[in-house]
Amino acid sequence: MKLKIAALIVGATFGMTGMAHAAGEIVIKFSHVVAQDTPKGQAAEYFKKLAEERTKGKVKVQVYPNSQLYKDKEELEALQLGAVQMLAPSLAKFGPLGAKEFEVFDLPYIFDNYEELHKVTQGPIGQQLLAKLEPKGIKGLAFWDNGFKSFSANKPIKTPADLKGLKMRIQSSKVLEEQMRALGALPQVMAFSEVYQALQTGVVDGTENPPSNMYTQKMHEVQKNLTMTNHGYLGYAVIVNKKFWDGLPADVRGQLEGAMKDATIYANKIAKQKNDEDLADIAKSGKTQVYNPTPAERAAFKKALTPVHAKMADRIGPNLIKAIYTQTGFTAN
Ligand code: LMR
Repeated sequence: MKLKIAALIVGATFGMTGMAHAAGEIVIKFSHVVAQDTPKGQAAEYFKKLAEERTKGKVKVQVYPNSQLYKDKEELEALQLGAVQMLAPSLAKFGPLGAKEFEVFDLPYIFDNYEELHKVTQGPIGQQLLAKLEPKGIKGLAFWDNGFKSFSANKPIKTPADLKGLKMRIQSSKVLEEQMRALGALPQVMAFSEVYQALQTGVVDGTENPPSNMYTQKMHEVQKNLTMTNHGYLGYAVIVNKKFWDGLPADVRGQLEGAMKDATIYANKIAKQKNDEDLADIAKSGKTQVYNPTPAERAAFKKALTPVHAKMADRIGPNLIKAIYTQTGFTAN
C-alpha cells in the first residue's frame, strides 16, 4: 500500500510538471484491470501501435494490464493526480467520481444487443455523457465495447429465485446493487482483481460477467454454473487526464485522436467475437455448466429486473433514461 501511495506521489509530480516527457518523448501510461487477451486489452495494444506509428515515436504508450499498476478505485485517483494518463474503466465505475449518469448503462435489459447500444454510445447521448467528465479534470475520448453479462454461481440458476440469499460480487455501481437486491441476492462491491480469490474461497457465491472477463480471469474454474441471462451491458469509456491532453502539441493530439478513432472501430469489432470464443472455451473446459434459458425463463428475469429502471430513475436522471428508450425502442416485455 505504501508503495502504491509513493508511486502515486512520484507519478503525480511527474504528471503535473510534464516531466513524464523525458528528452522530448511523450509517455502515456495506460492502466487497466483486465487481461491482455480481452477486448479492452487488445484494443489498448492496438491504440499503442497506432499512436506510436502515427506520431513517429514522439509518443510512447505503456500499457499496464491486469491491475498491475492500480486496482479499480486507485486507477481513477491516479488519473486525476496525473500518475497515469489514460484508462478505460467500466461504465459501472464512474458513480464514485460523481458521474452517476453513467450508471444508466447498468440498468438490466436496457440494451438487447450491440446495435441498440451503439445508437447511444456512438451517438449524441454518448458525446453528452463524455462531456460531463470535463469539470472533473477528465476528458472522455471514446466508448469501447466489452459485452453482455450473465450470472454465475455454484448452483444452477434458472429462475430469479435461484439467486435469493447468494452473495454476489458487483462493480461499484448503485444500479448493480439495486439489481442484486431485486433478486433477493446480497451485493458485495469488490475490486476486479480480487474476484477470483473471493469466488475460490467462498467469500462470495457468485458474480456477473461477460464471458471474456470470466474466462481470462479463470473464474469458470471456480464457478460450476453459468446461465446466459445476458441481462446487462459491460463496456468502457476511454478517458485521459484533461490537463495532460490539453497540454499536448496540437499536431500530436490530432494524431492521437485519429489513433483513438481507429482503435475504437477495432475494439467494437472484436468484442462480440472475443466473447463468443471465450464462451465456447468456457463450455469446452467442462468446469462450468453453461445453461441457455428458455424464452419464458428469460422473460421471468426481465420481469424481475426491469423495475430497477424506475427505482433508479432519480439517481440517473429520468430524461436520460427516456432518451435512451427513444433511441433503442426499449419495451418492458
Ligand atoms: C469488473 O470489475 O468486473 C469489470 O469492470 C472489469 C473490466 O474492466 O472489464
